[in-house]
Amino acid sequence: MNAVADARPDVRDALGRPLRDLRLSVIEACNFRCPYCMPAEQVADDYGLDAASRLSFDEMETLVRGFVQAGVTKLRLTGGEPLLRKRLPELIARLAAIEGLADIALTTNGSLLAPLASALRQAGLHRVTVSLDALDPALFKELSGGRGEVADVLKGIEAAQAAGFAPIKLNCVVQRGINEGEVLPLVEFARSHGHIIRFIEYMDVGTCNGWRRERVVPSAELRDRIHARWPLQPLGAQYRGEVASRYGFADGRGEVGFVSSVSEPFCGDCHRARVSADGRLYTCLFAAKGHDLRPVLSLGQEAVGRHLAERWSRRSDRYSELRGSAKAQRKHVEMYLVGG
Ligand code: GTP
Ligand code: 5AD
Ligand code: SF4
Ligand code: SF4
Repeated sequence: MNAVADARPDVRDALGRPLRDLRLSVIEACNFRCPYCMPAEQVADDYGLDAASRLSFDEMETLVRGFVQAGVTKLRLTGGEPLLRKRLPELIARLAAIEGLADIALTTNGSLLAPLASALRQAGLHRVTVSLDALDPALFKELSGGRGEVADVLKGIEAAQAAGFAPIKLNCVVQRGINEGEVLPLVEFARSHGHIIRFIEYMDVGTCNGWRRERVVPSAELRDRIHARWPLQPLGAQYRGEVASRYGFADGRGEVGFVSSVSEPFCGDCHRARVSADGRLYTCLFAAKGHDLRPVLSLGQEAVGRHLAERWSRRSDRYSELRGSAKAQRKHVEMYLVGG
């Protein structure tokens, strides 16, 4: 163990869960308007904070160092669309140099990935996850709110592979009656290119996506459909608290994952903190409000680490387990502020 790990306190929340993962949004803006996240009718075309309201790279570095001190070993950069943040490779290079961070990943819609993939890799990014809800160009465009071209995303995935990212994960949010027909073609695509595809249950995130339970396709149903075409066998989790449950193809050609937040909540092992681009801490994807970390950032990484440990010890969120009950929070932070 290195010095950072030795010094790290074993911070536990009120339900005994440690703090291990940080999902940091680098920008709240997005060039897509996926109806399940940022519907075009409800979010203005030019939506976004002014650049000065976002954490600077110095602040982000202090923040991440503070999180590492409080126990974090995995970092995921998110948005909005993170590749819209200017000079992102520069930020990644600074974060990759932090001792104690074992993993740095990025979740992107992939539309701007092709020209940036190699710079991201050289900066020290370990992994890339690309959202891909359909291969059919017309359906893809509709699901991006009329903004995206699937061809650009496919070029981005190809460029990421050529830059050395392997395996690349693909995320598909499945909605009943909308893109169910894309599931088998997406599995075929992922298998033939060496990518890992994960199917995500449509969630009631944010306040503006008009979520309806009838639109959720339970993972068990998708698993059966895929199994009928390409037999599957369960694989163990790669780390404690892994969000996706994994299945390998019996023919040895890769794996598929399912994120089942609605049908099989996984709050019991949730080690994730989220921070928005303007420096607010959210202790759950479904939290109503965030806690402003900016005041403490100016005090330096040790102060941030102590502050986070204290906040985390009071955490008791478990929204997905309470969903539908009287105890469940009604107001939720918007998905595009915390990047999923
Ligand atoms: P890996 O490190 O590769 O395992 O990444 P990941 O699966 O944790 O991250 P990714 O961004 O790919 O997340 C996949 C999906 O799961 C996204 O749609 C997230 O919104 C969702 N998700 C991730 N963490 C949570 C969580 O704590 N709660 C809920 N309800 N959903 C989550
Ligand atoms: N339900 C499930 N997943 C969602 N995402 C965005 N909104 C939702 C939702 N309502 C996914 C994106 C991306 C990840 C960061 O979150 O498609 O893959
Ligand atoms: Fe943008 Fe991702 Fe939200 Fe789609 S899901 S609108 S790509 S932030
Ligand atoms: Fe964690 Fe909240 Fe998701 Fe439960 S609903 S797994 S507590 S982020």
